[in-house]
Amino acid sequence: FNPNVQFYLLAYFVGGIPFGLVLAKLFAGVNVKEGGSKSIGATNVLRVVKETNPALAKKLGIATLLLDALKGVVVLLIAKAFGMSEAAQWGVAVLAVAGHCFSPYLWFEGGKGIATGMGVMLVMLPLETLIALAVWGILAKTVRISSVSSLSGVLALLVASFFLHPEMAHAPVILIVVLLFYKHIPNIVRLVRGEEKRVV
Ligand code: G3P
Repeated sequence: FNPNVQFYLLAYFVGGIPFGLVLAKLFAGVNVKEGGSKSIGATNVLRVVKETNPALAKKLGIATLLLDALKGVVVLLIAKAFGMSEAAQWGVAVLAVAGHCFSPYLWFEGGKGIATGMGVMLVMLPLETLIALAVWGILAKTVRISSVSSLSGVLALLVASFFLHPEMAHAPVILIVVLLFYKHIPNIVRLVRGEEKRVV
């Protein structure tokens, strides 16, 4: 029996909490799984809520972003508080992101993992995350296509981790990056076809 199993389960079940879906339903009465990209993430909350309640859309989008990131931060702080090894912490990080992407509460559907990924990386690789956030922020302002800024930030984080932490085992970071890209396949297809929409 692996003594870390309960933390892995916690990470997966906390990571799976679909804050975007709940907030949009509760405060705007809309189902984000039926509109826009059908994702439960902040971008789609902003997009779908804006159709009926523009005043509320930004607030709910930001709240979703922060709460989804917080899920990753909280499970890792718990893992650290209980003295889990670095390798086991990475296990928690991967499972929190996987929980968000394949939520146990939504028949294994979910979001695209950017915010929760940002949360776990903020704890595990803070400097790389700040670099990723800078790249994300600049592209969000200039290109204004959410998937482009998110995926560029993800790649920036991966590259930065090789430069700033060449000694670490990069497998978990690569696994998370692959997971995030996998969840963005529909976005990538739309980008290639020139059909990906700008966010408002
Ligand atoms: O952070 C999610 C973003 O990269 C894409 O979201 O809803 O435009 O597919 P969406």
